Amino acid sequence: MIIRHPYPHEVETIRGLFAAEVAAGLMLPRSPEQILRHLGDWLVAEEEGQIVGCVSLVFFNGTLAEVRSLAVRSDQRGRGIGSRLVEAAVRQAQERGVRRVLALTRAAGLFERLGFVRDAVGNFPEKVWRDCAPCPFRHRCDEIALVLELMPGETDHDLLCAPGISTGRVSVRLEA
Ligand SMILES: CC(C)(COP(=O)(O)OP(=O)(O)OC[C@H]1O[C@@H](n2cnc3c(N)ncnc32)[C@H](O)[C@@H]1OP(=O)(O)O)[C@@H](O)C(=O)NCCC(=O)NCCS
Repeated sequence: MIIRHPYPHEVETIRGLFAAEVAAGLMLPRSPEQILRHLGDWLVAEEEGQIVGCVSLVFFNGTLAEVRSLAVRSDQRGRGIGSRLVEAAVRQAQERGVRRVLALTRAAGLFERLGFVRDAVGNFPEKVWRDCAPCPFRHRCDEIALVLELMPGETDHDLLCAPGISTGRVSVRLEA
């Protein structure tokens, strides 16, 4: 499996990975335009020529990024693909100088295994103002906020020491 940036023609495949969750009101939709505009902030997992998972990073400022739109094709779940996508996204965030990576999710265990710790979304006013206030699910949000703190000036080696993050397991080929 490789993890790489998606190509523009893969946008609909990406949307298809979480279309059922969007229809069920469990995930927010991402329009083709939104995805295309920030294609470099998305990663996909490719296996045997097929896209089996995706994740995106949303940058709030120089120091905070959110892992968003994590999804794995339904017949491929439970094999560690989601965890590897999160690991790769964290490395991307770190390379961009981010200090804290936020996630709002129902799959808290997956993130906790990677070193994320539970927090209150209210501690992230950037997130609340931009996304939660206009969110249609804001009055029935059952997502858990988790954060991973990255040490300033961390090298890739240092990140290896963070609980759960093991860079060696992911082959990241980044090409737009
Ligand atoms: C969440 C998701 C990306 C995980 O991908 P994956 O490849 O199955 O992830 P991994 O194999 O690395 O880890 C699976 C773990 O996530 C947990 N998990 C997956 N979905 C979950 C959910 N909705 N609620 C709680 N835990 C969940 C599984 O129980 C499993 O935990 P376990 O190992 O303790 O049994 C995948 O299940 C998915 O695409 N779900 C639909 C989209 C979605 O809900 N995305 C939001 C996540 S932020």
